Amino acid sequence: MLIAMDGPAASGKGTLAKMLAEHYGLAHLDTGSLYRAVARDVIVAGDSLDDENAAVHAAQALDTGTLNDPGLRTPEVGQAAAKVAKIGAVREALHRLQRAFASKPEGAIIEGRDIGTVVCPEADVKLFVEASTRVRAERRYKELLEAGHGISYDEIHAQIAARDEADRSRKISPLKPAQDALLLDTSDLGIEAAFEAAIKLIDTALLPR
Ligand code: CDP
Repeated sequence: MLIAMDGPAASGKGTLAKMLAEHYGLAHLDTGSLYRAVARDVIVAGDSLDDENAAVHAAQALDTGTLNDPGLRTPEVGQAAAKVAKIGAVREALHRLQRAFASKPEGAIIEGRDIGTVVCPEADVKLFVEASTRVRAERRYKELLEAGHGISYDEIHAQIAARDEADRSRKISPLKPAQDALLLDTSDLGIEAAFEAAIKLIDTALLPR
């Protein structure tokens, strides 16, 4: 079984995807970490984020063993990821890794921005996870506070709104629900309730017609 999960920043899709992967026994890929890792590698190499060649080189040379680096989760790297994510050749290199992951015989759950629309249009189920900007900013603020990052709620709110706008309006692979995606709004749902709602949507979609 292949599940595609998309949605804007801090919509809760990461936590949900991990829980669903465990529940259904699927391998899990957070594709945001690939874009974040490319951005990190450009920064670490001392190259400019506007240098497209440097970003493409970083994407082609990406070491997927480094995706659990906690340094990927900073707001700066999130912003930088949205920058390199606009470059077609970066996306191509990372799409190759994502498609290889999607073809795992045991099935997979892959989360990102363009999984249902571009990377895995053949997915058995497509979920689009949403939440209001306020709720998402609150969630990310709490997460970053717990991880020891000193950043204000207002800054986080502004950053998330700007990143959403960049992701939604870019020419290549913009963030949007696939036509056949199932929508899940988690604004008023805690993580357990969101998990239950997602399982219900997925199991219903998989019923034989
Ligand atoms: O964790 P959060 O929801 O804040 O973001 P993320 O999923 O780690 O993604 C970081 C950035 O990578 C996004 O804002 C997008 O610009 C980019 N991205 C993308 O373009 N396509 C994907 N499939 C996943 C992420």
